[in-house]
Amino acid sequence: MSERGPEVRLAGRGVRGDDWEFVRERRVGRLATADAEGTPSVVPVVYAALVLDEEPVIAIAIDEKPKGDPYRLRRVRNIQERPEVALLVDDYDEDWSRLAWVLVRGSAALAEPGDAGHGEAIAGLREKYPQYARMRLESLPAILIRGLSMRFWQGSDGGDAAPERPGRQELAALVRGRRSVRAFDSRPVPRDVIEESIAAAGWAPSPHGRQPWRFVVVESQERRDALADAMAETWRAQLRLDGQDQSTVEARLVKSRDRLHRAPVLIVPCLYLEGLDVYPDGDRQRAEETMAVQSLGAAVQNLLLSLYAAGVDGGWMCAPLFCPEVVQEVLGLGRALNPHALIAVGYAAADPVRRPRMPLHELIVDWQ
Ligand SMILES: Cc1cc2nc3c(=O)[nH]c(=O)nc-3n(C[C@H](O)[C@H](O)[C@H](O)COP(=O)(O)O)c2cc1C
Repeated sequence: MSERGPEVRLAGRGVRGDDWEFVRERRVGRLATADAEGTPSVVPVVYAALVLDEEPVIAIAIDEKPKGDPYRLRRVRNIQERPEVALLVDDYDEDWSRLAWVLVRGSAALAEPGDAGHGEAIAGLREKYPQYARMRLESLPAILIRGLSMRFWQGSDGGDAAPERPGRQELAALVRGRRSVRAFDSRPVPRDVIEESIAAAGWAPSPHGRQPWRFVVVESQERRDALADAMAETWRAQLRLDGQDQSTVEARLVKSRDRLHRAPVLIVPCLYLEGLDVYPDGDRQRAEETMAVQSLGAAVQNLLLSLYAAGVDGGWMCAPLFCPEVVQEVLGLGRALNPHALIAVGYAAADPVRRPRMPLHELIVDWQ
């Protein structure tokens, strides 16, 4: 595989240009679908990777018609029951350092003739596969996969060796592109994106390398609402204590609850001090705990950057810090897990306005 280049942002979704090229160039993939009960099915498919209205889309023709009815194809029935699909595009080589694959996830739907994107899909498929020139695809629905996220894997000889050092541009795109998002659309976040982001958190620097943090993933609507309601009670009391009037308090609570209700995933980073050194004196003990908190911040930043690289956004909320016992109780956490923040995770409903940053000369107060 060629070197991974800088991220190319497609429709603000953060699909990496190299991953997109990899998928675009390959001739065949394996499409995984599942029915309403979750029974999986996989079929080899040919596909076209297209950009429709600036959005990356995978198009798959329906050219097989069991007994004349394309709707009887298992993949079509599955998509109608459950739109989440995965497409695996891979390279095999006897030299295992050259193995590579991209796992594409997205939400599939049937585009009927005349629907937006149908004509472009057929044209794109014909351009890629001359075999389609003689087939009457116009009158059949096509599968369009949107809301794409991509994950790349490449074989290496290096075992546990660190991945190649990213270029400065690539890092700058991540560091400067990451933004706090407070309103999300309803698309679910793939599980592997969440897992990858928590694994990235695990690579943060930490005191003695002991990783004094753990993460709770809250995904079900019921649990998210329960968490929002529990924290709202404490916040209501605190806002009243601050002397805020009733209507302001209620408006702020509604907004905050709505945010947690809509974000498809909440991640609660918890401080976990069990593995740290214990000192007889208060000063060193406090320093030890401060180091753990500093490290939690580094872990959360890794998590946010990893999400952002996968085209997903996060919004850091401090609320659990003000009611850790409430969060412990509602999530059923032991006392050793001290909730320090809440990261709302999802796909941004709109690009947020970014806050300007201090100029460099104000950040560097002295250079001796
Ligand atoms: C420790 C910490 C706590 C934060 N708590 C909240 C919060 O409760 N609500 C919120 O909307 N943003 C919160 N933020 C996000 C900041 O407001 C945001 O990072 C800042 O405005 C800069 O914007 P950016 O992240 O888009 O660059 C928090 C950030 C940090 C680091």
